[in-house]
Amino acid sequence: MREPKNILVTGGAGFIGVNFVKMLLDEVPDVKVVNLDALTYAGNLTSLHDKMDEPRHVFVHGDIRDSDLLSRVAREHSIDAIVNFAAESHVDRSIEGPKVFVETNVLGTLALLEVARNADITFLQVSTDEVYGSLGDEGYFSEETNVKPNSPYSASKAAADHLVHSFKHTFGMDCLITRCSNNYGPYQFPEKMIPLCINNARLGRKIPIYGDGMQVRDWLFVTDHCHAIWKVLTEAEDEVFNVGGNNEKTNLDVVGAILALMGKDESLIEFVEDRPGHDRRYAIDASKIQSRLGWTPSVTFEEGIRRTVAWYQEHQAWMDEVTSGEYLGYYERVYGG
Ligand SMILES: NC(=O)c1ccc[n+]([C@@H]2O[C@H](COP(=O)([O-])OP(=O)(O)OC[C@H]3O[C@@H](n4cnc5c(N)ncnc54)[C@H](O)[C@@H]3O)[C@@H](O)[C@H]2O)c1
Repeated sequence: MREPKNILVTGGAGFIGVNFVKMLLDEVPDVKVVNLDALTYAGNLTSLHDKMDEPRHVFVHGDIRDSDLLSRVAREHSIDAIVNFAAESHVDRSIEGPKVFVETNVLGTLALLEVARNADITFLQVSTDEVYGSLGDEGYFSEETNVKPNSPYSASKAAADHLVHSFKHTFGMDCLITRCSNNYGPYQFPEKMIPLCINNARLGRKIPIYGDGMQVRDWLFVTDHCHAIWKVLTEAEDEVFNVGGNNEKTNLDVVGAILALMGKDESLIEFVEDRPGHDRRYAIDASKIQSRLGWTPSVTFEEGIRRTVAWYQEHQAWMDEVTSGEYLGYYERVYGG
């Protein structure tokens, strides 16, 4: 059992990172969270406006590739665990420009691993089921499934996973990897399918669906993922844990459910040319984390999608700030840099 007290969360201004930082501050009373984020287009500090004055939350504007900064932060805050969310995360962008994906996802992870190694810090890499590639109609990804990524995004995540494993194997470091299925919930950047769909439906705009919309993903409500990461960080002895919701849905099912909840017509759906190399099906076998650590998802898809639609409807100002680009200058405007 690990009891980390001073946790460096990287990428804590992104979708899952924000939810994780809030969970730590709300549910784990005795931890300090140092949140390091480069605030790329995907980083949004307005999501944490209610936590910025919290003494147990320190925000550091910085890049995970900056080794000197990482060493300083680790020393000054006596960091005893790193949870690495920081990444370029959008597959479409990785097809348009793969380089930054390698720079951040691979070299950034390497820089973090070096700091963790030098200061004897536990390291948890937040990875993805996409490293396993694509499934046919049958079968599930287990922790034993061969890594076979298909997109530049998933290739960069897989490369990072290999580095993490190599640091554990070679240097005896305390390293962990979680590989989670698709997340959804509050604070997700609206280039991703679910918030894009909700926002377009609200505005009566067309909702683009790649190909035939029959790609299958295993959806997990974001807070369930955050709880799984905490379980792995504090309790896991093994290195790799898959995390999934056992909620296989086609993209068309998901969009249909959102439109029904919003009282909108399916005529808003517009089929567009498929993404090159689009993986057909991901499905997670999460039996290891369930049997070894007692983690199970607590939010069903029906409940989670209802809560997600309600959250975006109740937080239109958040969405408007993101789509207008106003969120980009928030840190400088309010905190002076
Ligand atoms: N979203 C999902 O469904 C999902 C599923 C499984 C795993 N993951 C993984 O979880 C992690 C978080 O995903 P997300 O959806 O919250 O991503 P996101 O794109 O919403 O957030 C990424 C965050 O990382 C920050 N960042 C990017 N480059 C950085 C750098 N060089 N230095 C410091 N910070 C940097 C961004 O500013 C942003 O705040 C990623 O590693 C992703 O691969 C995501």
